[in-house]
Amino acid sequence: MKLNQLDLQAALLCGEAVIFDEIDSTNEYLLCEYKHLAVGSVCAAEHQTAGRGRRGRSWYSGKNQNLCFSLLWRYSADEVHQISALSLVVALVLAESFTELGISDIQIKWPNDVYYQGKKLGGILIESRFENNDYYLVIGIGLNLSMDQVDLNVVNQPYADLSAYHLERNQLLQRIVPQLQKNLKIYPLVGFENYVERWQSYDLFYGKPVKLLAGDTEIHGISKGINDKGELLLEQAGKINAYAIGEMSLRAQ
Ligand code: BTN
Repeated sequence: MKLNQLDLQAALLCGEAVIFDEIDSTNEYLLCEYKHLAVGSVCAAEHQTAGRGRRGRSWYSGKNQNLCFSLLWRYSADEVHQISALSLVVALVLAESFTELGISDIQIKWPNDVYYQGKKLGGILIESRFENNDYYLVIGIGLNLSMDQVDLNVVNQPYADLSAYHLERNQLLQRIVPQLQKNLKIYPLVGFENYVERWQSYDLFYGKPVKLLAGDTEIHGISKGINDKGELLLEQAGKINAYAIGEMSLRAQ
């Protein structure tokens, strides 16, 4: 079934729903339109021709089968102190939504990749603009629901999908988006501390040897979860060191 703008609109706690058959990137749309749209607005598309991933990569989104959407939010600079940890909260909301649907074996790979049975199921790309003391955040989410026509030029890592569950995309979107809106609303009030334990219950690599890739540098250690800033904790030579969220990638050693 195609995505339905009215059904999504009815589910939103705030903002408006905009759905396209085809667009370059839902993130790009909201980055262009954020001045004209209310906080909480969602842009979803059946197909993206230039979907963006983290670290300058492309994001594959086949036609009418996965979920690609972006959500607009705004915080004043005084209101929120841990914007960098927000992507971990978004990953947690996704993971908990899947768990509530009865899907087990969901994990999160630090900082914000959602995994299913040890393979990537979805990703999050947050882009922002800062204007008049306000952060405008565009929270882009791509979820693999059915990956039967994959473009292997774009997808270059093992991936999972949820085709075994026959999820209806409209229902999934209507479940996830209000949960995201609710958590974005309370985030400045409760802070990231409120999410640490729940995030860690999904940690893909807890207790395992990992390497952190940052440019040409490889940092090795045993993964020990996260601290209350969302930083990665690695045990190295008997000491625990924290690594800030940035343009890094975490792998099994
Ligand atoms: C990642 O690299 O893991 C992040 C992928 C984020 C993809 C989503 S799809 C919807 C939104 N629009 C984009 O262009 N990118 C994000």
